[in-house]
Parts: sequence; structure tokens; C-alpha cells
Amino acid sequence: MSIKTAIIPVAGAGTRLFPSTTALEKCMMPIYSKDARPIIDYVVEDCIKAGIKRLIFVTSEKGQSQLQNYFEDIDKNLASLLIELDRTDKLEEEQERRRSLELKFEYIVQPIGHYGTAYPPSLARESLEGENQFALLSGDDFVYRQDGSSELLQAIKLLETAGTNHVIMGNPVDKDQGTKYGVLQINEDGKLITIDEKPPASRVPDKPVVNIGRYLLSSQIWPLIEKEMSRNLGRGKEHFITDVINRAIELGQTFQVHQIQGVYMDGGTSEGLLTASNYITNNPRIDR
Ligand code: G1P
Repeated sequence: MSIKTAIIPVAGAGTRLFPSTTALEKCMMPIYSKDARPIIDYVVEDCIKAGIKRLIFVTSEKGQSQLQNYFEDIDKNLASLLIELDRTDKLEEEQERRRSLELKFEYIVQPIGHYGTAYPPSLARESLEGENQFALLSGDDFVYRQDGSSELLQAIKLLETAGTNHVIMGNPVDKDQGTKYGVLQINEDGKLITIDEKPPASRVPDKPVVNIGRYLLSSQIWPLIEKEMSRNLGRGKEHFITDVINRAIELGQTFQVHQIQGVYMDGGTSEGLLTASNYITNNPRIDR
């Protein structure tokens, strides 16, 4: 089995990073270490290492142009300036990096509004026609592995051996962190029983494993996503992929939990960006 396509939702408004996000998309916020790489670069690198060939970004309009500027052709004015400044070496190195990505980039512009985490995959459904499996990966956080190996590749291997319909990634956190996330209830075989979304402290287990918005899904999920999106929730309410997953389990679909071995980095807050920058500076990649 091979997974060729990843859907990467990156249209979040980024209110916790306001006002920076009025100009720069959340996924483009840099992580500072030896170099300054946007969060999305870490996500995309993981995809490449896992054998993904096609990325579908579900993005805002400004996000689309920012992503294209970063991953596709270098802005012509910037290229001319680099040549003028005698920095053709930098320019060529960067052009080569982009050429070597061997990825097909697609963009779906998500209208502005409160729709929730089930919405981006529903917008991408048509583009996934005929594909039995795909990855759904949040684009404003990532998993860092100092040795440069791919968390996603390991999850794909697990899907091959587990015999479940889907895989969900889980991150073990301290008990006091559990209330901020979807807490995964897992059985002794490592299969997901249910996701308890942002539970009160009293319901958080001693050793919580939480959802980090990274899934390998089979096409069996589509009808359930459609059903969720067609529910009338009332004003301001959102459609959550976690509700879809819980429903899928009720209907007999199975999810193996892949507990991550890397370090989860949340780019959605300034504390998260600072923590990621410090961590990567102090624990630089050994393969670079
Ligand atoms: C979403 C999910 C939650 C997950 C979190 C981190 O919540 O609903 O289950 O733990 O992302 O990936 P959000 O942070 O969007 O409120």
C-alpha cells in the first residue's frame, strides 16, 4: 500500500498569533535555529521522506500566494536582485532545492468562516477520487526528529501492518496538558476507542495521549465527512473531524494509534514558536 497524497489544511485564521497573521499565514511563521524555515517546510519535508507525491493545501487566498512563493518559482524581482548582488550561488542553490522537491502542489481556497476541522478534507474530496488512502496533516504544527527520519513514514508502515482502516497519531503529554487537546482513549491493542475532545481535568487520565491532527485515512471516511458537513449545527458552530472519527468507530471502522517518537511542535502560538526555535537550536538535526 502506498499513500501518495496529503491534504494539508492551512486556512486557520491564526487569532492567537494576531496581528502577525494579518500579513503572514500561520503555517509560514518561521522557526529560528541555524536557519529560518517556516513551519510548513517541516511538514512538507516529512511528507517527501514518506513518499508523498501530491500535496493539496486547503488555504486562504493570501496563503496560496505565500505557499507558491515559498515552494514554487522564486519571485522574478528577487531573483534579479540576487543576480545583481552577485548572489547567484544562493539563488541557484534555492532553485535546485525547489526543483528537487518532486512534488505536485495543488491549492483549494477555503472561504472565510467558522467551519471546523472536517471542512478542509470535505473540500478536497473530489481531488481524491480513486485514491483509497490519503494523509490528512495539520499544517501549522509538526513533529521534529533530530535524526531527520520521518514520523509520517513510520505511521504509514504501521498502517500496512496493523490491518486497521485508518491510523491516528498520538502524542503522550503531561496530565495537566490533557484539557487542551483531544484525548485519545486507546485499548490494549493500541486501537482507538474514542476521542474525548478537550475534556475537563477530571476526565484526563494519568498518562494522556493526545490528538495532534495527523491522520492516515481510508476512503471509507468520506461518506461520514459528508454527513457531518450536511448537519445543520446552527450559527457559529463548527464541524469537527474528531466527531467524524468517533462516529466511524461507532460504525465499526478501526483506527490504530501511532504514538509519535519525535517531539511535537505547536506553531499556533508565540510560546509554541519560541519553544520550537529553542528546542531545534539546542537539538540540531544530525543529518544536515
Ligand atoms: C484540534 C483537535 C484536537 C487536537 C488539536 C491539536 O483542536 O480538535 O483534537 O488535539 O487540534 O492538534 P484545536 O487546537 O483546533 O482547537
